[in-house]
Amino acid sequence: MSERAIEQTDFTNRPLCLSGRGVTKIFGLGDKRTVAVDHVDFDFHEGEFVSIVGESGSGKTTLSKMLLGLLNASEGEIFFQGKPRDISTGRKKKEYWKGIQAIFQDPFSSFNTFQKIDTVLLDCINMRGGKHLPKEKKIEMMTEACGFVNLKFAELTNKYPFELSGGQMQRLMIARIFLLRPRILLADEPTSMVDACSRATILDMLLNLRDEIGMTVIFITHDIGLAYYISDTVYIMEHGKFVEFGKADEVILNPQAAYTKRLISDVPKIHEEWDLSTVDLLSQK
Ligand SMILES: Nc1ncnc2c1ncn2[C@@H]1O[C@H](COP(=O)(O)OP(=O)(O)OP(=O)(O)O)[C@@H](O)[C@H]1O
Ligand SMILES: [Mg+2]
Repeated sequence: MSERAIEQTDFTNRPLCLSGRGVTKIFGLGDKRTVAVDHVDFDFHEGEFVSIVGESGSGKTTLSKMLLGLLNASEGEIFFQGKPRDISTGRKKKEYWKGIQAIFQDPFSSFNTFQKIDTVLLDCINMRGGKHLPKEKKIEMMTEACGFVNLKFAELTNKYPFELSGGQMQRLMIARIFLLRPRILLADEPTSMVDACSRATILDMLLNLRDEIGMTVIFITHDIGLAYYISDTVYIMEHGKFVEFGKADEVILNPQAAYTKRLISDVPKIHEEWDLSTVDLLSQK
């Protein structure tokens, strides 16, 4: 079997970060009714790297939007740090959003085209309450964040996001997360734009960041090989339901659900595709 990027850790006794009971989303009515997410239960712990794996249309993005508080659940309840999540007012929602950040499939859509990179990073420092820090301190923090993802801050000042390559842009997104230090990072296929080599680098950066700031990472993918490479825990999603979940090793080396077995057999040469031993981590420009 393929190599894994991390040791298998048991998170079941760690404090809860985000949980759900019976979480459901139904779109439309009558003939147009779609049950996109169907009574799912989950417990994501502090510092845990969780992958949600499923094919197109299985409900992954719909669930992410409910976790982010961008979409209301039709049924069920979401818990944040063990208590029912309350985002019923604008102020409470803002407070919740301080703790959760998302990175999406297309890095180009994540940045304001007319905002220089310095401004993008400065905004992160300001959002974390660093508005009144001296300029030198802010530059030091931005330099550190860029260094973490192997970008050179001095070369980025005065540039616009569209002047970066796709891979550099993905790394800039991770530098933002480094500065924002959320409790939860939700990443919906963040590596889809980059080649296999940069993909490994980005995933390893996410893992390093998890270790550095202890955040919970919820990684959404249809690639079970990727999930195996990077996660502590995997949830397998089919037609809006979790058909299987558990430690990545257990689920992927000993799958029980027919659907999981099929996803694994659809990755014919899992170990060859994910032999990352030749990848020089964090060294790409
Ligand atoms: N706003 C919406 N209105 C109606 N139906 C929707 C809406 N958003 C999603 N759906 C339906 O819900 C189901 C799940 O969609 P979702 O986008 O969550 O899947 P996904 O697992 O993220 O797929 P992909 O891997 O392609 O991104 C699909 O059948 C989709 O058509
Ligand atoms: Mg999706």
